[in-house]
Amino acid sequence: MKYAIETFDLTKRYGNFVAVDALDLKVKNKSIFGFLGPNGAGKTTTIKMLTCLIPPTSGTAQVSGFDIIKSPDEVRQKIGMVPQLVSLYGDLTARENAELCADYYGMPRDLKEQRINELMELVDIKYAENKLIRQMSGGQRQKVSVVASLVHQPDILFLDEPTIGLDPTTKSVLWELIDELNQKGHTIILCSHDMYEVDMLCDHIGIINLGKLAAFDTPQGLKDSILTKNDNKASNVGEIVRELEESEIISHPSFSRLKTIVNKSEIDNAREMSLMISNSDSELIKRLYQIPSVLEIETHPSGRLTFKLANTENAVTQVISVVMETGGNITSISTKDPSLEDVFTKVTAKKVKKEEAGE
Ligand SMILES: Nc1ncnc2c1ncn2[C@@H]1O[C@H](COP(=O)(O)OP(=O)(O)O)[C@@H](O)[C@H]1O
Ligand SMILES: [Mg+2]
Repeated sequence: MKYAIETFDLTKRYGNFVAVDALDLKVKNKSIFGFLGPNGAGKTTTIKMLTCLIPPTSGTAQVSGFDIIKSPDEVRQKIGMVPQLVSLYGDLTARENAELCADYYGMPRDLKEQRINELMELVDIKYAENKLIRQMSGGQRQKVSVVASLVHQPDILFLDEPTIGLDPTTKSVLWELIDELNQKGHTIILCSHDMYEVDMLCDHIGIINLGKLAAFDTPQGLKDSILTKNDNKASNVGEIVRELEESEIISHPSFSRLKTIVNKSEIDNAREMSLMISNSDSELIKRLYQIPSVLEIETHPSGRLTFKLANTENAVTQVISVVMETGGNITSISTKDPSLEDVFTKVTAKKVKKEEAGE
């Protein structure tokens, strides 16, 4: 089985409102998939359909090899769910809650006890097994919730904002746990608004907006996708503008306007790099401008040069080679790529605008 989850035109309507709109999504088996999207985008609705809590209006999905419409009982055996609002019984102990879950799946007594012990040790909550849920901290409850969702050894674990409101230490314990579960062969579906969490943990990320999949890629792929491509047309225009500028024959006010437009479109999403060079001079700057991927260089009195680079594979190497060839002495280097947050903002904002324009 290649995909843990595969959806086919999966759609959910509430009256005339389309909450999930013909979603086609593939999640590789044994991967960690991050599901991102603004509030109301359709994440929970999608997860509810995939976990057989609500039926789709049309379309369907295969979850761990079973169809959610034809074989919901088989699907339920294959999945575990840690909901956003912990759904444990407050007046029962941690252990009693886990046992209740195991009983729901009809697990034999010996296996049940063994699994619960193993899992409680894995997430480090065994010490509190006889404590009432309502007397536990948020982090402790979340751990019990993970134990309860895993007793029946599901292939796929759905986690809806599992670390929201947890302190940094408990958060990183849960991150380690998610990673460990994945290494043991569980596929993880992680809904989250924490960009750092998703960036660090996930193999692939889907960004859903207005019920549609707006982007799908690896975290790095998503970040690269918003960088300026080394698009020949754009760089050529940029180059001509720079040549004209260097020839110093241009004084018309339209020229500076043109320059601003060209620079802005190219530079908005450029990769940034900063070099500290102890002996930079105008000759070096001139040489650096000849590199096609260099869109802009800012010089600072301290000797720092800040670059805007087009997204070519070797842009950074080229800049450094030129500096070294001309005997430049680099004392520090830093680069800044777009963050997942930049991708999120861009992808979701664009779609809203399109929708408003009635496309
Ligand atoms: N039972 C329901 N009846 C009507 N509308 C609903 C219902 N459940 C969800 N919605 C609507 O569907 C959209 C998607 O909701 P949801 O999947 O919960 O979004 P997300 O989890 O991405 O924040 C929202 O606009 C929400 O108001
Ligand atoms: Mg939700």
